Amino acid sequence: MNLCPIGVFDSGLGGLTAVKRLIELLPNEDIVYLGDTGRVPYGSRSRETIIRYARQDAAFLISHGIKAMIVACNTVSSAALDLIAPGAGVPTFGVVEPPSERAAALTKNGRVGVIGTAATVRSGAYERAIARINPAIEVISAACPLFVPLAESGRTDAEDAAVIAIARDYLEPIIASGADTLILGCTHYPLLRDAISSVLGEGVALVDSGATTADYVAVRLREMGLLNGSDTPGERRYFVTDIIDGFETQASRFLEADVSGSVRQITLE
Ligand code: DGL
Repeated sequence: MNLCPIGVFDSGLGGLTAVKRLIELLPNEDIVYLGDTGRVPYGSRSRETIIRYARQDAAFLISHGIKAMIVACNTVSSAALDLIAPGAGVPTFGVVEPPSERAAALTKNGRVGVIGTAATVRSGAYERAIARINPAIEVISAACPLFVPLAESGRTDAEDAAVIAIARDYLEPIIASGADTLILGCTHYPLLRDAISSVLGEGVALVDSGATTADYVAVRLREMGLLNGSDTPGERRYFVTDIIDGFETQASRFLEADVSGSVRQITLE
């Protein structure tokens, strides 16, 4: 029995894809979420800047006495997961390995697409993770930098012609490769899932990096004896580094639960 909360962070809304699944799987756990909305997007920044921001994010969550941390950001997980919270004694989970495992198990034709931020694609983290699992799998990657601002601004509708035009352009190399499985290698991208699916068609299986990681973490926390065993619903607190309005609206829509009153604006040092 461990009553401490689970900490989750991302540059913005994207990490809520992990939170949503965590709430489904572990409804009685407390969750502290940090979205660094004042500095989103991370994906267009240098590795040094991403690491600096991520260390501040992690320190903030650790100061809340968390028992485990999900780095629900592929950009940070790819840049240097092991540099984020060394020595803090908090089990830390990134979002690259679980979807890599899932995609390697799902693909039938041995071709897996990965879409992510420029920093994630540049890092080659998915190519390395998938090669460790099955070196015969071919990985085709594409950066989709405009997907994050679209998701943050709530512009995600599959009927929106501008969204579809951008998705078609970005996904063209994935379609051309014949990949039958696509990792949404940025936690923001599931917010655009309908648009992505409508461009790719039903023959391509989509793997959600945030949700797949939440599945993995739920199993690991149970194995580690870190679940709280409580039968009362968990408390969820959300922190952002810019005005709360947009986050509150988008988060309530995405989580299908009213989060107003649980969101606070903070400053990171
Ligand atoms: N959601 C994050 C990711 O998974 C970061 C997106 C960004 O800030 O560029 O990569």
